[in-house]
Parts: sequence; C-alpha cells; structure tokens
Amino acid sequence: MATDYDLVILNGVVVTDTDVGDYDIGIKDEKIAKIAKRGDLKDAKTTRTIDAEGGYVMPGGVDGHVHLQEPPLFGKGSSADNYETGSRSAICGGTTTMVTFAPQKKSEDTLLDTLHATHERARNNCYMDYSFHLLVGNPSERALSEFKTLREEGITSLKIYMTYEALKLDDGQILDVLLEARRQKITTMVHAENGEVIDWMTKQLEKRKLFAPKFHGTSHPPVAENEATHRVIQLSEFMDSPILIVHVSTPEAVAHIKSAQNRGIPIYAETCPQYLFLTRSDLDKPGFEGAKCVCSPPPRESEADCDVIWDGLANGTFTILSSDHCPFRYDDNVTGKKTCVTDEYPVGHFKYIPNGIAGIETRLSLALGENRLDLKKFVELTAANPARLYGLYPLKGALEEGKSDADINIWYPPGKMEAFQLKNEMLHHNVDYTPFEGRTLKQWPRYTLLRGKVVWDRENGGLLGEKGYGKFIKREPSSLAKSRHAGEWNISEDGTFGFS
Ligand SMILES: *[C@@H]1O[C@H](CO)[C@@H](O)[C@H](O)[C@H]1NC(C)=O
Ligand SMILES: *[C@@H]1O[C@H](CO)[C@@H](O)[C@H](O)[C@H]1NC(C)=O
Ligand SMILES: *[C@@H]1O[C@H](CO)[C@@H](O)[C@H](O)[C@H]1NC(C)=O
Repeated sequence: MATDYDLVILNGVVVTDTDVGDYDIGIKDEKIAKIAKRGDLKDAKTTRTIDAEGGYVMPGGVDGHVHLQEPPLFGKGSSADNYETGSRSAICGGTTTMVTFAPQKKSEDTLLDTLHATHERARNNCYMDYSFHLLVGNPSERALSEFKTLREEGITSLKIYMTYEALKLDDGQILDVLLEARRQKITTMVHAENGEVIDWMTKQLEKRKLFAPKFHGTSHPPVAENEATHRVIQLSEFMDSPILIVHVSTPEAVAHIKSAQNRGIPIYAETCPQYLFLTRSDLDKPGFEGAKCVCSPPPRESEADCDVIWDGLANGTFTILSSDHCPFRYDDNVTGKKTCVTDEYPVGHFKYIPNGIAGIETRLSLALGENRLDLKKFVELTAANPARLYGLYPLKGALEEGKSDADINIWYPPGKMEAFQLKNEMLHHNVDYTPFEGRTLKQWPRYTLLRGKVVWDRENGGLLGEKGYGKFIKREPSSLAKSRHAGEWNISEDGTFGFS
C-alpha cells in the first residue's frame, strides 16, 4: 500500500521563529513534506503517527559553538567527549545539528590539513548532522590563501582568539583575517578577551599566593572582555567584515554591541547558558569544587549580570544562544580538571584548570524551562538564527515544506511532565558532572527527530539514534551576516582608503 508519509505528527502546537499555531506535520523522505491545519492529516496514509497531545513541536536545535576531541592546545587536560559521545549527548537533549571547531595550531601553516583531520575524527562517528568552523591559530599567507577553498568545501565561518598564548592573534593578524574573510563571504567568530590584561592580573594573584578556583574569575576581569569587544568591533567596522562575538558575558560588552548594531554595523553576538545561570558564587565553592564552573569568560559577579544577558536575548541584541560545550572530567588527574591539583597546589592553581564546561544536552531545556523568552524568540535564538548565521537555513532551523530536513523536537504538553532535579547520571556525555546539577527543569524533549528518524524517545527506550547516521553538511555563506559595502577594501594612490 502506498503511503503519503513516512511519519505524521498530529495535534502539535507548532512553533517556528515566525509562527505559533495548531498544525499537523507530514514527513516524507527525511523532509518536511506538509504542514496542515490541525486535524487535516489525521486520516493520511502514513507508516507511523506520533500524537504530540498539544505539546510544542519545534525545529531541532542548532548549536553553533561546540568543542569536541580537540588536540590539547594549552596546559594539561583533554576533551572528555569525542564526536561520538558529544553528538550522542546532543540529540538526547534535542539538538540535531552542531558546528564544532577544527583547530589549527600556531605551528601549522595550512588550514586544509586541519580540515581533513577533523573530518576524519567526525566521519561515521556522529549521531547528528554537523559542520566545522575553522579555528585560525596561524593566519599565514598560505592559510589566508586557503579561505577560498574552505568556502568551496562548505566551510563558511571561522574563529579567532584575542587571548590564550597558543591561539591569540595580534591586531594586524586580525585585520588580515577580516579582510580575506570579507572577500570570501566568510563569517568570523571572535573570542574577545584582552589576553594581556588577563596575564597581568594572573601575575598579581600569584604574587599574593591566591590560587583557588574562584581566582579564575578575578583573573578575567570584565575590563578584559569589554576592551577586546570594543576593539574588535572597531576593527570589524574598519574592514566592513561581519563578526560574531562569542560567549558575551558582561553588561558593558552588551552595550558596545548594541551601540554598534544601532549604527548599522554587521556585529552579531552569542551568549551561553553559563552566563544566564551561573555566577561568581558557583566558582567560590569549598576546596577545588569551583573548578566545575571554570570557563572563559568566567561566570560573572551576580544575578544582576545574568539579568542583563537575559534582557539582551529577549530584545534582539543577541543573535544566538549556544552551549560552548567544552567538556572536561572533574575527578580525573590525567585528563580532567584535577590535573592542576598537586602537592604544591592542593586546591589547584586557577591558571592551570582546564577551561570549559559541558552543556550541549542541557542548553534547550534550561532556557525553555525558565519561561523568560517568547516561544518564537526561543526558536530564533537556538535554531533559526544559528542556521541563518552559519549558512544552514532553511535546511536546518526551520519547518518549511519541501525545503527543511525533518529535524524536530516534540516537548511535553502541559501537565504531562513533573518538574525534576537535573542529575548528571541523566545525561549522555562522557563527563562525570554537570555544572547545572540540582537545577529544577520543567521541560525536556519527549521525542527528537533527525531527518525523519526518531533518535530520542524519552519514555520508550531513550536514545534510539545511531552513531554514523549524522552527516556532514556543506554550508552556504551566511544569510544573516553581510558586509555593507560592495567592492574590495583598498588603499588608493592618493592615500584614501575604502571600498572600490
Ligand atoms: C536590550 O538589552 C540590553 C541588555 O540589557 C540593553 O543594554 C539594551 O539597551 C536593550 N535594548 C533595547 C532596545 O531595549
Ligand atoms: C591520580 O589519582 C590516582 C587515583 O586517585 C592516584 O593514585 C594518583 O597518585 C594520582 N596521580 C597524581 C599525579 O596525582
Ligand atoms: C588596489 O588598488 C591598487 C591601486 O592603488 C590597484 O592597482 C589594485 O588592483 C587594487 N586592488 C584591488 C584588489 O582592488
């Protein structure tokens, strides 16, 4: 018997970034085939039916900031998740597409070897669809000349750092990258912290023998982020090259971004759950416990800081909400946070604590459960905009007939789920803790679909997806981040510079 659909989802409250409504959804050959008025598909010929029972039905999450299986770049400690465990964790929390980093070392001249090596790590290992941002550690002439090839290979974004000895670019190198990225329609992500301010503060703390995890926060003062954010906005404006400032955490940085956006400059901004839910008090736990929340920038002073970040999400200053999943085990002195605990430093030394926390599985549930974001805004920040920004829309992040992959989260309808306390043992990463342990969650995806296949069914088997089902997606240039002027940036013989 011929069927119209492989799967039909009935009775959902369908939410995209532009619409909330009662629709049924028909899926065929991995795609969204039909969005119809509620009830219209109840008699459709289909292989399988899922009754959403009035729960929200949303595009699968797109996480644009994920670190997996990176070679150690500084200090000790290595990533706890590889492509298999990281992508497994993601789909169990409703994220169906991720963009991870392919990190080039300073000692390497080329980006293409880095790209190929990262493909090797990911290939046949992923539960979810994926792409890569090239992390440019050494913008050599050769590396810059390869941006064009990256574009052809479907890599339309890269990332640079303004801090960390092993990765930091100076301002001239940043201009080199921005110029060539603009030429190739590549979006540049920037870790904006002033590395010299951080080093200076670190020395001040060491002189005073202050080593506990909480001093990580002290060593990354807001001024480091504020200054670097302002500086890179100026550099981006000078080159007319769009940038996305990652993991923004301070009110002053938000204000710099807002003011640039008001002037019409293509500046985009990201934040992460750690800047919505964690504060200095999470770093200031007895003994070494605070190391569980060490990431950079650090969680900021107080809930008032978190409120400013929430406001920026709600009012459109932020473009995307990502996880910055950067997993290290805690109770592990070979690869994890405890590599820095020694006889000399019994509560560790903040400078050597592996920087980063896990969060790919909890990002959506944490943010949705707070009810602080309008539903359409939530989808925009966690799925639609990351897809637009990184050239995946409307294949991902949308529910468009004939165009979008059938990547879908079906959430619990009202009354069907009791609030619960998050425990690490519920999660599917390879990390021995979550920085969000004990938080009350009011939502969790009931079903997650990737290209029409149910990969997560919370009540019937949990993880149903398979390693290797996820595939690499070649990306288009950003449909969001565009330079303002036509023509090449250049200096003319009369000494003026600009776009010709
Ligand atoms: C949006 O929120 C940010 C952060 O709280 C604030 O700085 C900005 O002024 C707000 N903008 C508007 C237009 O409300
Ligand atoms: C690491 O931890 C193990 C088990 O607790 C312990 O036996 C070992 O001595 C530790 N190694 C270092 C270098 O601290
Ligand atoms: C830049 O300007 C010079 C003249 O100053 C010209 O020869 C050159 O072709 C221009 N380059 C580009 C990429 O437009």
